[in-house]
Amino acid sequence: MKSRVLSGMRPTGPLHLGHLIGALENWRKLQEKHSCLFMVADWHALMSEYENPSNLNTYAIDNVIDWLSYGIDPHKSIIFRQSDVKEHLDLMMVFSTLTPLSWLERCPTYKEQLKELKGRELTTYGFLGYPVLQAADILVYKARYVPVGEDQLPHLELTREIGRRFNGLYKKEIFPEPEALLTQEPRLLGLDNRKMSKSYGNFIALSDPSDVVRKKVSSMITDTTKIKKHDPGDPVKHGCNVYAYHKTFGAGAAVSGALKDLEERCKKGDLGCVECKKLLADGLVRFLEEKIQKNRDRYTREDARDILAQGAHQAHEIAAETMREVKETLGFAS
Ligand code: TRP
Repeated sequence: MKSRVLSGMRPTGPLHLGHLIGALENWRKLQEKHSCLFMVADWHALMSEYENPSNLNTYAIDNVIDWLSYGIDPHKSIIFRQSDVKEHLDLMMVFSTLTPLSWLERCPTYKEQLKELKGRELTTYGFLGYPVLQAADILVYKARYVPVGEDQLPHLELTREIGRRFNGLYKKEIFPEPEALLTQEPRLLGLDNRKMSKSYGNFIALSDPSDVVRKKVSSMITDTTKIKKHDPGDPVKHGCNVYAYHKTFGAGAAVSGALKDLEERCKKGDLGCVECKKLLADGLVRFLEEKIQKNRDRYTREDARDILAQGAHQAHEIAAETMREVKETLGFAS
């Protein structure tokens, strides 16, 4: 039997290259071997965006169109929206009764987000409970694997703890322990060498047109010891971000079967950063066009909505069965 996989993304902005490398690429491969559920985590998005939620719906549909365009296939995987399947909240309620506050307060992602998203009032009841909802997302499908970035590991650990606590309290093995599946790819940095993130505005969106991609690439930081075109650089030792992009997108973007060649030309002072960036921009433009953008026209917003509706129906079938077991375990079954 195929293992069940669940993952999700919050629809807080346009998808960017970091999402592609960190998640979508992995999702696309996983759906060939496993039963996958891919979720638009709109309730989770609301937890940080509740003051201004008006874009969440647009991003939800936009993100799904990107997923579909990249090859996440509704015939292979269940694609749905969290708020369409009410069992997530039912199970969150049950879990919230048995999750000690101290588990949530000590969660490192909680502490970090409070710091990172300064200026927003996030000391709310809902936000503290973020991992409880995430545990419900995963366990309501009894998912075996959860592809996530490293930053999500504390949430997975909490998910296991919450599941164990439920099983222990009611002496019934309802919830199996899910495992994280980390991406192999190293994390792609943003244009300014910080973590690629919507809130830093340092990303290349999957929907960026070619002139925008070119402009963004030209602003990237290279080997800081290489000032003039003919200065010899050392992209590997000095961690040149443009080189890292060439490496990541090399094969797919067909920029550089010549990666080694680029490195050598850079070291010899033969390849200037301007030319190197131009090569990268050419490759990225081609890559985005071929892997995503040319497919975007195949899906209307209406198609995305239909796929989400169908996905919600399929997800509900699984989730309702788990909730039935949970209620029976609690003695709530009618
Ligand atoms: N917290 C995840 C993130 O910010 C999104 C998410 C919500 C998720 N529910 C999930 C990821 C369940 C995996 C499984 O990236």
